[in-house]
Amino acid sequence: MLEKLIEIERLGMAALESVQEETALEGWRVTHLGRNSALMQFFNGFGALDKEERPKAGQRANEVKKALEAAYQARREQVQQAELKRSLEQERLDVTLPGRGVPLGRLHPDTHILRLLYRIFAEMGFQVYRSREVESDEYNFQLLNFPVGHPARDMQDTYFIENEGRGENPLVLRTHTSPGQIRAMRAATAAHPQDPPPLRIILPGMVYRYEQVDARHETQFDQIEGLAVGTGITFSDLKGTLNCLAQRLFGQNVRTSFRASFFPFTEPSAEFDIECFQCGGKGCTVCGSGWLEIGGCGMVHPAVLSNGGYDPTRYTGFAFGLGAQRIAMLRYGISDIRYFWENDLRFLEQF
Ligand code: DAH
Repeated sequence: MLEKLIEIERLGMAALESVQEETALEGWRVTHLGRNSALMQFFNGFGALDKEERPKAGQRANEVKKALEAAYQARREQVQQAELKRSLEQERLDVTLPGRGVPLGRLHPDTHILRLLYRIFAEMGFQVYRSREVESDEYNFQLLNFPVGHPARDMQDTYFIENEGRGENPLVLRTHTSPGQIRAMRAATAAHPQDPPPLRIILPGMVYRYEQVDARHETQFDQIEGLAVGTGITFSDLKGTLNCLAQRLFGQNVRTSFRASFFPFTEPSAEFDIECFQCGGKGCTVCGSGWLEIGGCGMVHPAVLSNGGYDPTRYTGFAFGLGAQRIAMLRYGISDIRYFWENDLRFLEQF
């Protein structure tokens, strides 16, 4: 009888040794202390024992039960401690691991080139003058010597705004930044009608044209208009300014060209070209001819000066209109103007 109890205790203690986690511990409790355990069956079979045997067996059985319960409690604490330790270890932070990168935004290549151009022109004494994107036909064309029906308007296919009742002066999306010249001159001459001040300004901004889109043409792009008005300004000043710009952008050895051209608001007029970065002047898919057309320029037409309020017998001036994207293409080696507004991150992330 007593051997049976010794065996029950021995088996229970041995099984407890190998218990490592709480679920196994609960299994052990059911097996060794639960209702169907050998120990409980021993208690249940008590009645079958001889009368003399009962007190001794009862006392011993209770001792075994207490010993198993005490061992169970002790094991339980060990198992819980071990599990706590394991979970703390899992949570431990390795402060030597590299951090996770935070994705950073970056400036658009157009912003880069505009800021660079502002800086270069600022060093040459040009202030920034901002003008409007929705213009009237009068400012966009007529005051710049494009009368209604003038063929030169065909160079700039125009987007019109809704125009109920505006007759021959419809509103347009500006096709170039040149109308800002008139606004800037009028602002200066309105403030000082007798003795208008000299001007040295750039007028940057978006312009819109109904263009056939290809590698060099977009329906919207940034222009940088320039205007200098004063006494004794000559075509040499214009050439000096644009050559200086080209050198600041592309280095001392850059080659430039001024090609005779026509614009209604300048006389004489020229196209300003810079030697192509891709082919070094030989001619390629980017430039066609070896030279990239950067914009137009010329001496401000006397009629335009007087539309601005400046007396053309006293004042002269030069003007230019440059394509900011064309300059960015040359400087950064971009072969297609369409990349600028496609919002493709593979392109934008390179700047
Ligand atoms: N406004 C002209 C265009 O967009 C460019 C231009 C040519 C501007 C000559 C000028 C200039 O100021 O003098 O086609």
